Amino acid sequence: MNLIVVGTQWGDEGKGKVVDLLSEQADIVIRYQGGHNAGHTIVIGGEAFVLHLIPTGLLQHGKIGVIGNGVVINPKAFFEEIKLLSERGISIEGRLFVSEAAHLIMPYHQAIDKESEKMKGAQKIGTTGRGIGPAYADKMTRSGIRVADIFDEELFREKLEKNLLEINAILEKIYQAPPFDLEQIFKEYMSYSEKMKPFVTDTSQYLNKAIDDGKHLLFEGAQGTHLDVDLGTYPYVTSSNSAAGGASTGTGVGPTRFDKVLGVTKAYTTRVGSGPFPSELTGAMGKRLQKEGNEFGATTGRPRRCGWFDAVLVRYAVRVNHLTSLAITKLDVLDSLSEIEVCVGYALDGKTVEEMPSSLRKLERCTPILKRFEGWQESTQGTTSYDQLPKNARIYLEALSELVGCRADIVSASSKRGETMILRAPFETEP
Ligand code: IMP
Repeated sequence: MNLIVVGTQWGDEGKGKVVDLLSEQADIVIRYQGGHNAGHTIVIGGEAFVLHLIPTGLLQHGKIGVIGNGVVINPKAFFEEIKLLSERGISIEGRLFVSEAAHLIMPYHQAIDKESEKMKGAQKIGTTGRGIGPAYADKMTRSGIRVADIFDEELFREKLEKNLLEINAILEKIYQAPPFDLEQIFKEYMSYSEKMKPFVTDTSQYLNKAIDDGKHLLFEGAQGTHLDVDLGTYPYVTSSNSAAGGASTGTGVGPTRFDKVLGVTKAYTTRVGSGPFPSELTGAMGKRLQKEGNEFGATTGRPRRCGWFDAVLVRYAVRVNHLTSLAITKLDVLDSLSEIEVCVGYALDGKTVEEMPSSLRKLERCTPILKRFEGWQESTQGTTSYDQLPKNARIYLEALSELVGCRADIVSASSKRGETMILRAPFETEP
C-alpha cells in the first residue's frame, strides 16, 4: 500500500502527528518537496520534537526515511537535525537515504530570499527566509546545484563560479548587499561531501524496488495544498508542489503506483505569512483560537492567523488531491466555545460562490457565508474512541465531512501519539 499524506489548508494541519502515527504501519517514509521551511511537531512521551527536513517517520524505531529529488536540501540544516536527533538517542544510521538529484540550498539563496522580501515591503510573501524560493528558482532556470555535484570538485567549482558571477552582481547592484566569497562556500560544501556520501543514492530506483517487494510506503507532504505553487493561492505560496501530484515528480514513482491520499485538516483554519484568508477572525475569537491552539509557527515562531473552518478551501483540496479520506485534527481547541461557525461558501460581488476563484483579486473580495453550530463545552482532549465524543462534536465533524465531500478516517483531539481516534486505519483498509 502506498499512501500520500497532504495538508488540505495552508500548512500546520498536524501532519507531523498523523505521519508519525501512520509510520508504525509503514516501512518507508518519504519527503517529496519543500525543505527546512517545514516544521513538523511531534509529541512523544511528553517530549516535543520539531523536524524541519528529515522525514517524520524516522522517529519510529527501525523505519527507513527517504528525501526525494523534489526536496531542496540545506546541508548545514540536514546535519544539524541529525545531530539533534542523535543527542536525543535517535540514531538514523543506515535508515536515511537522500536523492542524488535533489537540489542544494546555497548560502546565497537565503540572502536573496531575505533581500527580496525586504525590497517587496508591504507586498512581501512572508517567507520563512530559508532560501527555499531562490533554490527552486535556480532549479527552474537550470543553474541549480544538485547533491551529486558535491562529489565532483571540479564540476562543483565551475557551477559555483558561474552562479556567483550573476548572484553577486544582483546582491551588490540591486540589493546593495555584500557579495559571497567563492572559496568560502567551496570549502564549506566540500566539507559536507564525505559526510553526505553514505546517505546518497538513486532513491527512485530504491523506492520502485521497495514497491515491487510489497513494502508499505508513506509519502509525507510538507506545507499544504493552498501553499502549492501551482494549485495554491499564488503568489502567496511556497515554491514547490506540496499537493499530492508532487509525490510522483518529487520521487520518481509513477502516478499509477499510489493507492490512497489522506488529507489532514484542522477543525478550524490557520495561515502563516501573507495572502487572502476569507474565514479569518481578526478580533477576540481569532486571538482565542491562537491561544487555545498554541498557534505559533514551528519554524519561525510567528503567530499564525486563525479563522473558522473553511469548507470551500478543503472541498478544493479534496478535488485537486482526489483525497480518499480525511484526518481531522485539533478538535479539542474548540472545546470551550458555545458556538462554532463554518464557512460554507463565499459572497463575491453580490453572488454566492461555492468553489474557490483562481483569481487572487477575486478571492480577496470574497467574504465568508457562515453556518452556525452549537458547541459541546466539555473536554474532548485525549479521547481515543469516536463514540465517546460529545454529541455536538460528532454533529460538527459529520457536517465537515459532508460539506467537503470526504469521509474522516482519523480524528484527533490531542497532540500525543497514543491519543487518536482511528475510525479506519488507512494502511489496513481497502482504498
Ligand atoms: P517559503 O516556503 O519559505 O518560501 O514561504 C512561502 C510561504 O509558505 C509563506 O507564507 C510561509 O509562511 C509558508 N510556509 C512555508 N512552510 C510552511 C509550513 O511548514 N507551514 C506553514 N506555512 C509555511
